[in-house]
Amino acid sequence: MHHFTYKNGVLHAEDVSLTNIANEVGTPFYCYSSATLERHYTVFEQSLSELDHLICYALKANSNQAVIKTLSKLGAGMDVVSEGEMHRALKAGVSPKKICFAGVGKTKAEMTAALNANILSFNIESEPELHALSQVASALGKTAHIAIRINPDVDAKTHAKISTGKAENKFGIAYEQARQIYATAAKLDGIDPHGIHMHIGSQITDLSPFKNAFKLLRELILALRDDGHNITHADLGGGLGIPYEETEQSPPHPQKYAQIIKDTLGDLRLTFIFEPGRLITGNAGILVSKVLYLKQGSAKDFLIVDAAMNDLIRPTLYEAYHQIIPVNEQANDTPKRTMDVVGPVCETGDFLAENRELAQLAPDDLIAVLSAGAYGAVQAGTYNSRLLVPEVMVKGKDFAVIRPRPTYEDLINQDQLPTWL
Ligand code: LLP
Repeated sequence: MHHFTYKNGVLHAEDVSLTNIANEVGTPFYCYSSATLERHYTVFEQSLSELDHLICYALKANSNQAVIKTLSKLGAGMDVVSEGEMHRALKAGVSPKKICFAGVGKTKAEMTAALNANILSFNIESEPELHALSQVASALGKTAHIAIRINPDVDAKTHAKISTGKAENKFGIAYEQARQIYATAAKLDGIDPHGIHMHIGSQITDLSPFKNAFKLLRELILALRDDGHNITHADLGGGLGIPYEETEQSPPHPQKYAQIIKDTLGDLRLTFIFEPGRLITGNAGILVSKVLYLKQGSAKDFLIVDAAMNDLIRPTLYEAYHQIIPVNEQANDTPKRTMDVVGPVCETGDFLAENRELAQLAPDDLIAVLSAGAYGAVQAGTYNSRLLVPEVMVKGKDFAVIRPRPTYEDLINQDQLPTWL
C-alpha cells in the first residue's frame, strides 16, 4: 500500500499535487512519501513483534539523509556496505550501536573507521577478510563483534544479477567450511564471533528459498553451539520482494515471512537482525517525468520523456518492470497504444518500459514511474552529462526538496585540468 493516489483527477503524493511539485522543482524528479515509508517500516516491525529483533534498514536502497532520519526516528538501525554509507547513517543521527557493516571488500581503512565509531557488528565474507579485521582490531586495542556470512547454496528464484546465495555467487563462506572458519575466528585476537549472517538475494517473492535457507541455518547454529561457540545473534539479511506490477500476485506479507522464522529458528534464543531495503522504500517513491515527443517509428511507437536510463537504470539493467501512469488521470475508456517509453540518452538500452500499453499522451504531459523509491536515485549517474535528478519528500500537505538539482557548473567543476593544459 502506498500514498500516491489521484485526487480531483491529479496524482498526489499524500496531500500534495505532483503537478505543483513539478512546477516548482522542474522535471524529472524523485518523490518520496513519508507516510508510506513509515507505514512499510511499521508493518514489518509489527510482523516481527514476537521475535527479539533489530531492523537495520539496508540504506543502499535509498540513502538520502531524510529517508535515513525518517526511519531512524522510528527506531531503525542501518545496514551499511561502505564507509560512505556508515558516515551517512552517523550523520543522520543513527546510533553506532545500531549499525552493521556488510560487504565482500571492506578495506582496512573502512574497518578502522567502523571500529573507531564502535559499530554493532561486522558481517564477514571471507577468511582473508577475517584475518585483516583481526589485525586492524588488535592494533587499535579493540574487539570486533562479528557475524560470518554463510552462503547456503540456495536458489532465491530471483533475477540472476541480484541472487546472492548460490555457490557460484561471490558472497559468504560455503556452508561446509563454516565450522572450520568459526574455529579459526574463535582463536583470533580482536574478534568476537557471536553472530551468524545470511542474505540470499533481493526481490524474493516466494518464501520457500527463505525457508530452506533458514532450516540450514538452524542446523549450523546447533552444530556451532555444540562446537562451543556462543552464537547469540542471527542476521537474516533482507530480500523480501514488493509488488511492481498491478496485475501480479502480491509477494508474501511480512507476517508470513515472520512465521517461517518462528517455525525454523524461533526456539533458539536468538536476537535477530533484519536488513530490509526495497521492502521499506521501494513503493514509497516515484520518478516523475515529462513527455517531450511522441515519435511514430516504422516498427514501433516511442514516447520520448525527459527521464532516462541514467536516472533509473533498473529497466535496462535487470529487465525490471515499473508501472507507468499519467499524472493527469485518464478515463478508463481512453484509447490506448503500445509504445516504448524512452529517454534522451544515446543508447538503445535507454528505456523505462518496452511495449507498454499507455493511454494517449501529448508533449508536456507528466508521467509517474512507480515503485522507484528503492535502487532508483542511488543508482543514478550523470552519463551524457545529464544532471542528477532532484529528490523531494512529502509529508501530509508539505513537501521539501531533500536533494536539489545541481547546476551544470557543479557538474563540470568536478573535473580539474592538469597543469599542462
Ligand atoms: N543485505 C545485504 C547483505 C544485501 O546485499 C542487500 C541487497 C540487502 C540486505 C537489501 O536487500 P533488499 O531487502 O533490498 O532486497 N540494485 C538491485 C538490488 C540489489 C540488492 C543488493 N543487496 C535492484 O535494483 O533490484
